[in-house]
Amino acid sequence: MSDIAAQDFSPILSCLRQLHEKYRTNFDGQVATYIPELAKVNPQLFGIALVTADGQAYEVGDARQLFSIQSISKPFVYGLALQQLGIDYVLTKVGVEPSGEAFNSIVFDERRNRPFNPMVNAGAIATAALIHGEGHDRRLACVLKMFGRFTGRPVEIDRAIFSSEKATGHRNRAIAHLERNAGMIDERIDEHLDLYFEQCSILVSAKDLAVMAATLANNGVNPLTGERAIDEPYVKNVLSVMHSCGMYDYAGEWGYRIGLAAKSGVSGGIIAVLPGQFGIGVFSPLLDPQGNSCRGIKVCEDLSQRFKLHMFRARFSAGVVVRRRSRGTTVRSKRIRSSQEQAILDRKAASICIYELQGNLFFASLEQVFRKLAAELDSLSYIILDLKRVLEIDDCAVTLLAEMETMLAERGKQLILAHFPIAADHSLGETPEVQWSKFFFPDTDAALESCENQLIAEENGDNRCEKALLELQAMDILKGFDGDEIALLHSIVNLVHYAAGEIIVREGDPADALFLLAGGLVNVCLRLGDGMRRKRLATIAPGVAFGELAIFDGGTRSADVIADQPAVCYVLPLPKLDELAALHPGIRTKLLSNIGRELSARLRRADAEIRSLEE
Ligand code: DON
Repeated sequence: MSDIAAQDFSPILSCLRQLHEKYRTNFDGQVATYIPELAKVNPQLFGIALVTADGQAYEVGDARQLFSIQSISKPFVYGLALQQLGIDYVLTKVGVEPSGEAFNSIVFDERRNRPFNPMVNAGAIATAALIHGEGHDRRLACVLKMFGRFTGRPVEIDRAIFSSEKATGHRNRAIAHLERNAGMIDERIDEHLDLYFEQCSILVSAKDLAVMAATLANNGVNPLTGERAIDEPYVKNVLSVMHSCGMYDYAGEWGYRIGLAAKSGVSGGIIAVLPGQFGIGVFSPLLDPQGNSCRGIKVCEDLSQRFKLHMFRARFSAGVVVRRRSRGTTVRSKRIRSSQEQAILDRKAASICIYELQGNLFFASLEQVFRKLAAELDSLSYIILDLKRVLEIDDCAVTLLAEMETMLAERGKQLILAHFPIAADHSLGETPEVQWSKFFFPDTDAALESCENQLIAEENGDNRCEKALLELQAMDILKGFDGDEIALLHSIVNLVHYAAGEIIVREGDPADALFLLAGGLVNVCLRLGDGMRRKRLATIAPGVAFGELAIFDGGTRSADVIADQPAVCYVLPLPKLDELAALHPGIRTKLLSNIGRELSARLRRADAEIRSLEE
């Protein structure tokens, strides 16, 4: 993703610069000294980075300065443990309750014989002890690989920091021994501690932290590399423990004031996540008494307040979800029907209803749809949800749609989804009881056509009109013709068979014949762009004429007509028709009046459809 344009003009970058400037001269707090190597850090260092869930990065100050990740490693290793062992097992070993104590406190959940949560040292050591693998080196490789997926680059350990903590980490060693004593971890105490000290000594920058946070914000997929760093179901578990325990004995106030899922580390890093939107990484080594970066807290607090980022703010409401409702009597498919089929649809198509939806589909918006539907459900048999203007469908909406389908089917009604977004398709796998494919139509027109066909089939039996070859006198355009006139027409028509896919009429050709469809189906199509793409304008069923405008202007064909399935036409060559009409003027009069009536009926339907769109 190019960040040049975004860096040139960006109120976000300008805000980060202002915050950097505002707090650059604030030297509140102390650098951590209990790990001797950390005490050597330059306290001036200060970097801020923000990466969006789609991978746009904004960086200010020392955002590329490397430092040891320390406790910010904890939620990520916890995610790895969840992925390796599953939630149920991990919960038996490490709790998820805030301890309200300092990060290095020596307290355990005595009742459940486990550390309180994976964010305090006791829980993080027990979590590191869970990481699978044959021997220390393989376990470490697995941890490093996981961090590499989150940062989008291979990560390394700062061996000086690791050795410094290993040599002085007596408190953590004591915690591990107490845990061993209580049976919380196995006997490989030194190996587990090494792994823990190593995970804390991984080098990252504020930009790396923001990418890692953005990966969590993006449901576990690194937005820069596209690689999945953690399985989606665990992302919410990781974010939950960050939210409740990530800032130790400041977690409550942090959640109250700032409202982003966060984690801090004693080297001065803070990571914060707004799910679905972005991740922040801040680095400034001056710490408050709780071990959280002073400037880091200030930057996050300012950002949260300025942009109202608190995750418990309701960001959107359902709004108006049902944009328009139309019945099958006002809106028809592009299939041109014989008058007999028209008559059936005039009587029955009110039982088809198209709900045009807009915006995002989630619990509250679908509830609106159900409410509207319930009010008119008795009169409906086919419910088409047109999702063309729907941007996103969340998992909850998918579950509710499945419920809706089942309830409608129980009442003998059909749910049809038109324009279902491909991107949402994967989530349907979670509702196997519904065979979604039979409810999907590429567009409303195809959905409408299918409902209309079912209504007609209910009355005509198995689509009789499509199968039998119609007699000449059954053609709509020949209504009112007597036996002699039909016989005269018979003498000039050719009965022509077309294979499926064959072009019957080609755009640009001279319009020199009138076609009456006796059997099969044909599509009227426009060639678009380079001529390789076609758009269907209408589908014509037996009993209906096409190419009839040629009678009026004799010009060239304005669209292609292609056999959709094997088709049979009565073809009336215009010169012969003219000759016949010269001798029998009644034939022309009746023909023109029938065509006129059909055209005016189509115009009336178009007017009614336009009215329904405007109302
Ligand atoms: O265990 C320790 O003390 C360090 N390796 C990590 C502690 C830490 O980062 C606490 N966070 N504020």
